[in-house]
Amino acid sequence: MSLFPTRRLRRLRATPALRRLAAEHHLHASELVLPVFVKEGIDAAQPIASMPGVSQHPIEGLAAVVDQAAAAGLGGVMLFGVPAVRDAVGSGAVDPEGILNRAIAVAVQAAAGRLTVQADLCLDEFTDHGHCGVLAADGSVDNDATVEVYARMALAQADAGADVLGLSGMMDGQVAACRAALDEAGHTGVVLLAYSAKYASAFYGPFRDAVESTLQGDRRTYQLDPANGREGVEEALADIDEGADVVMVKPAGPYLDVLARVADVASVPVWAYQVSGEYALIELAAAAGLIDRERAIGESLLGIRRAGAETILTYWAIEVAGWIRDGRSLA
Ligand code: PBG
Repeated sequence: MSLFPTRRLRRLRATPALRRLAAEHHLHASELVLPVFVKEGIDAAQPIASMPGVSQHPIEGLAAVVDQAAAAGLGGVMLFGVPAVRDAVGSGAVDPEGILNRAIAVAVQAAAGRLTVQADLCLDEFTDHGHCGVLAADGSVDNDATVEVYARMALAQADAGADVLGLSGMMDGQVAACRAALDEAGHTGVVLLAYSAKYASAFYGPFRDAVESTLQGDRRTYQLDPANGREGVEEALADIDEGADVVMVKPAGPYLDVLARVADVASVPVWAYQVSGEYALIELAAAAGLIDRERAIGESLLGIRRAGAETILTYWAIEVAGWIRDGRSLA
């Protein structure tokens, strides 16, 4: 009996060229989407302390950001608005002159068809209590009243020219309601991206800073329980039934199992959102000299891709697109 292996799996790992040849997964710049924060009433970009390298932008600076994203070959920008004034029902979200709706129009013009303009469709940036919906008399988030506001928000965003609406509020029936409202208004071509499996996550922490959220309490009555995988799959299937064009899992890294299960059964594209906390963890660990920053970023994105995401929202989109363009290995 030979003491030596007859099967040598190391063969394909021997050189960079063989490893490149054998790589199962690659990322293209067009599969990356950059989240962008647009803040009302500032006149210069303001760095976000909890997200080193990410800023809030004045609307006057948005065209330049969109231009950079387009030049990098990205698939899109996902816009978030940070309004100067908030109220109980999130009026700024449905106002055509609200910061997000104005930002959409500016971005669409700057993009000039080179990339898609996507908008977050949720109320938490616009309500003074910070919840993703309007409240009932007992203080709970009122599902059906919220869905009505979402439908109006969808119309405002579509009127402003958005290509893709990111429904991130986790209200039951929100996809069907927005689709119906859009279709009735003749906006039949607007793409609905459902944040289907959106978990009640601590990893949104830095984002709350980025949008200056005032949330008291938590979102556990509408966002998913981190203990549940099957429920994430069920949410995605329900959203596809309601007419979602794309479904998403969020956060990405801690939920790769959910992503893989959704990707197995979904009949529409599956995307993932690498959220603010995932970003901050790597940036801070790298700044402390604990990990190789670029390899950790590349590895985190390849993991999300390997689990089944076709498109990834990531705050590193422009930088990573540059690495891809230079032909560098991601991990
Ligand atoms: C809701 C929304 C959130 C994020 C994207 N859309 C916050 C939340 O639900 O608490 C988080 C994104 C991130 O953390 O990067 N408007």
